[in-house]
Amino acid sequence: MKGIILAGGRGTRLYPSTLGVSKQMLPVYDKPMIYYPLSVLMLAGIREIQIISSPTDLENFRRLLGDGGELGLTLTYAEQAEPRGLAEAFLISADHIGDDRVALILGDNIFHGSGFAPLLQRHAQSVDGCVLFGYPVPDPERYGVGEVDEHGNLVSLEEKPERPRSNLAITGLYFYENDVIDIAKNLRPSRRGELEITDVNRIYLNRGKARLVSLGRGFVWLDAGTHDALNEASQYVQILEHRQGVRIACIEEIALRMGFIDRDACRRLGGRMAKSPYGQYVLEVAASG
Ligand code: DAU
Repeated sequence: MKGIILAGGRGTRLYPSTLGVSKQMLPVYDKPMIYYPLSVLMLAGIREIQIISSPTDLENFRRLLGDGGELGLTLTYAEQAEPRGLAEAFLISADHIGDDRVALILGDNIFHGSGFAPLLQRHAQSVDGCVLFGYPVPDPERYGVGEVDEHGNLVSLEEKPERPRSNLAITGLYFYENDVIDIAKNLRPSRRGELEITDVNRIYLNRGKARLVSLGRGFVWLDAGTHDALNEASQYVQILEHRQGVRIACIEEIALRMGFIDRDACRRLGGRMAKSPYGQYVLEVAASG
């Protein structure tokens, strides 16, 4: 399965913080925001990942993450000239996807929870149509919203409905079969002029091919799209890391634990950042295996 991180957009809700730098580059406590979605794809076992961003921001992501080789990944970069919608990702990344399946994750979505890696791997291996991840929220009108029947099957999907039929937000992580490229090619822009991911997902739903995985209690899903949300995400990560002594979304540790790199490679990566607590942690991980 191939991966895509969509890290474009203008970040206007975070102005002036995002006037000079992309939103997904801002720190969430001790690391850039994009580390969080990148770590999710890595935990799913995905190693070939394309990062999509605006022409001005793409170079910064390349500087941050390079070709991914040091993490045992293959990272490539592609431009989205204008934020024309999430589903445009499948058109931009059609060559990258090739004839494979694909996971799309939004660059500002943060997931955390125990047992997430096996859950991701299980669903990545068994995609039949699309797999969506739902999460209960108090303000569903801000998101794509899914409605399920008494058996937990998805029955409707709406993008930012005024009157949501449920409190289940559809998070910014999506698994698809290869036909998502053709579906995206045939989409029309919505009233707000975007190729909507919810329109893609509704096509799968109408075909009986949309699976919903509910991330309930025990999981945390945060989107860091506003100043408050960003600050809360940082606080969450800080509290958890201090209390547990382990770091969330440490891509070097994940690469080691997933078997993408060996301890020597991990030590080299940590050594380069040895003056920061994050770098020290990577060194400890490399030493303890
Ligand atoms: O976060 C989950 C939600 O993401 C879903 O529940 C919604 O169904 C989905 O439409 C999306 O809603 P948002 O209102 O968060 O979408 P937004 O336009 O803010 O874009 C999400 C991220 O993707 C944001 O970080 C910017 C980036 N983006 C957005 C667009 C439209 C791009 O990189 N390119 C784009 O064309």
